Amino acid sequence: MNKKKIIIYGPNKLSGDVKISGSKNSALPILFASILSKEDIKIKNIPNIEDINITIKILKNIGIKIIKNKNLLINAKYINNISFKYNLIKKIRASIWLIGPILIRCKKIKLNKPGGCNIGKRPIDMHIYALKSLGAKINYKNNKINIFIKKKLNSNIIKFPKISVGATITSILTSVLIPGITTIYNIAKEPEIIDTINFLNKIGAKIKKTNKNKLIIKGVKKLTGGTYKIIPDRIETGTYLIAGAISKSKITCYNTNPIFIKSIIKKLILSGAKIKIKKDFITLNMNNKKLKPVNIITNPYPGFPTDMQPQFTLLNSIALGKSYIKENIFPNRFLHIKELNKMGTNIKIKNNKIICIGVNKILGNNINATDLRSSACLILAGCIANGNTIINSIHHIYRGYENVLKKLTNIGAKIKILNNK
Ligand code: UD1
Repeated sequence: MNKKKIIIYGPNKLSGDVKISGSKNSALPILFASILSKEDIKIKNIPNIEDINITIKILKNIGIKIIKNKNLLINAKYINNISFKYNLIKKIRASIWLIGPILIRCKKIKLNKPGGCNIGKRPIDMHIYALKSLGAKINYKNNKINIFIKKKLNSNIIKFPKISVGATITSILTSVLIPGITTIYNIAKEPEIIDTINFLNKIGAKIKKTNKNKLIIKGVKKLTGGTYKIIPDRIETGTYLIAGAISKSKITCYNTNPIFIKSIIKKLILSGAKIKIKKDFITLNMNNKKLKPVNIITNPYPGFPTDMQPQFTLLNSIALGKSYIKENIFPNRFLHIKELNKMGTNIKIKNNKIICIGVNKILGNNINATDLRSSACLILAGCIANGNTIINSIHHIYRGYENVLKKLTNIGAKIKILNNK
């Protein structure tokens, strides 16, 4: 999996069918949530990606039994040790979700601050706030977090000052086994959070979603085993739809759920695409039409996802006219822009706004992938660029896109891996 560099021979039209994999951002919290049960759990539709492989390594290192074939079988009856390897923890931001379950199971946890994508500042103050609200004691110094339970954890009211996917998951994972009622206000409502809640409820948790931005969790004594199928990856779906849009062609994503990507579909329609939707597939057809630029503001779900911002920046950069994208979630998530400009785009950044003046064509160059979604954006750029594009540090893409080079090749991309080091 450590393929560092690729060359893309462009330009090529990307068109055809793509089978969408299971959601990365569901699979991760669901794997960490599985630590809360001591029984056998089977997870279906698990994506074959690096973030999942790293999570499996982290969990196996502490004695949790995992078998991964087509499905993933996990049994966390025994946890042998809780000394975590920093070289693994630092690779994924999601390792912060160890804290709640390990605290519940082992009464203490020491962890270095997790890493993750290079998309700007990623504080953990709201995770800490949730844990403290539930009675955890915390020492946090020089990126080292030491968390323990003095007497016991207590149910409580948690009111987040701001919407956070990660902190919402931490608060859920920590409170499902605490006796009493925990109420969480101002939660994130991403489909992956609902998926995690559905999984936990399937194995015996009592989490109630209300119409408001609120969750009511009635603590249960224990969680059982069970089988659960993860939802399709909405960001992977959106990425391949963009591939069709920028190629001015037709792409069908199947094994997906169009309901999760309403905000993305809306913008694709505004860019000129024809969209056909059925229960589990979506077809985008650009019919060789000119792309129209679209203005976008990223926001928590159901708003437009920040994880689609780099891909839409590419679309806007080749749509004739002027457009902006306001990045409200990670105000420094702009590392792909310098690389796109090396390929001939005309993109400027003003505070947290990306301003694109569309160009007619882009040219191949030697560019650097810096994080997961920027890699997706740059690979797509390479596919439609005139000439050859070399992308360095391509390993980021394997964190979140299953079989990406094969899926792209199947729809017309010409990509070669340049080295194996
Ligand atoms: C998750 C997703 C990521 C997505 C992001 C926003 C996973 C594994 N990752 O990341 O793909 O881009 O949601 O949809 O599911 N914040 C704080 N304090 C905190 C936590 C967050 O200030 O304690 C801020 C962040 O800096 C950011 C905002 O809250 O500005 C939202 O971040 P959050 O929703 O927590 O993102 P992640 O859970 O890290």
